[in-house]
Amino acid sequence: MSLHPQKIIIDTDPGQDDGVAILLALASPELDILALTTVAGNVPLALTQRNARMICELAKRTDMKVFAGSDKPLKKPLVTAENVHGKTGLDGIELPEPTMPLQEQHAVDFLIETFRSAPEKSITLCTLGPMTNIAHALIQAPDIASRIKNIVLMGGGFFEGGNITPSAEFNMFVDPDAAKVVFSAGIDLTVIPLDVTHKAMTNAQWIKDLRGMHTSVGEAVAAWTDFFERYDKEKYGSEGAPLHDPCVIGYLLRPDLFSGRHINVEIEADSSLTAGATVADWWGVTDRKANAYYLNHIDRDGFFELLTERLGRHA
Ligand code: RIB
Ligand code: CA
Repeated sequence: MSLHPQKIIIDTDPGQDDGVAILLALASPELDILALTTVAGNVPLALTQRNARMICELAKRTDMKVFAGSDKPLKKPLVTAENVHGKTGLDGIELPEPTMPLQEQHAVDFLIETFRSAPEKSITLCTLGPMTNIAHALIQAPDIASRIKNIVLMGGGFFEGGNITPSAEFNMFVDPDAAKVVFSAGIDLTVIPLDVTHKAMTNAQWIKDLRGMHTSVGEAVAAWTDFFERYDKEKYGSEGAPLHDPCVIGYLLRPDLFSGRHINVEIEADSSLTAGATVADWWGVTDRKANAYYLNHIDRDGFFELLTERLGRHA
């Protein structure tokens, strides 16, 4: 393990799977989480910022800085996903209302200030929701593009198509204009699409293992999984559900568990039929410049072994 933990900022729209990703990151000493910045996505911003603080309190990390960011996409009206995540965004278990503070500063201002003041390319940005905050920061402060070490993002799909429309994954669909800004900013991008996360499927044994931890974190993750699995089981007829966002953190911890290709990925933002589609030139049929490391493989069992061991570290 490196003596110097990786500095990261997690931009998130909790969401049960965001919650599991945050709990994984908080249990991993390889990562130095500078802050959570929240965005409207799975549920409105008032709930995503609340949920982020509830997750930190569940992990007994009331010291974590949580910022509220954008409450709507750059151009499109907000689309949320209560049908998947429930009305609170963290349905499945009752958690106490958060008492830790929400930071006063707007998340976008925090991002700009942090990337301008930190040593160049010293911080990784992990995005788990619509990329609205990042796009606003890049629009207001284009100079930070060269200062961001890299962005590891959950979003998009090529072989798997979409999950909210036939051609678009939710994070990209909610704010395709923001994704377009980020994908054309010349930043080092690692894309973790449905082509990976649909192979990171939960199952009944895993939920059993979580409950076997006899901890509040184990119980919460088991209850969240029980809840959001119902949607995917009905939709895909699968035994479990894809664990999307934790794959971002899993990649940071064990990149050897993943593989992909450096390719060109463009975002469709204007078509009413395919808005949010990630047009991934996997077969290199265009002369468009590669702008992303696009993953399509995960060692599913290795990932769940890592995830379970780390979640087991929470009291
Ligand atoms: O499509 C899956 C993504 O959309 C995940 O990040 C989930 O939390 C939702 O934000
Ligand atoms: Ca998310």
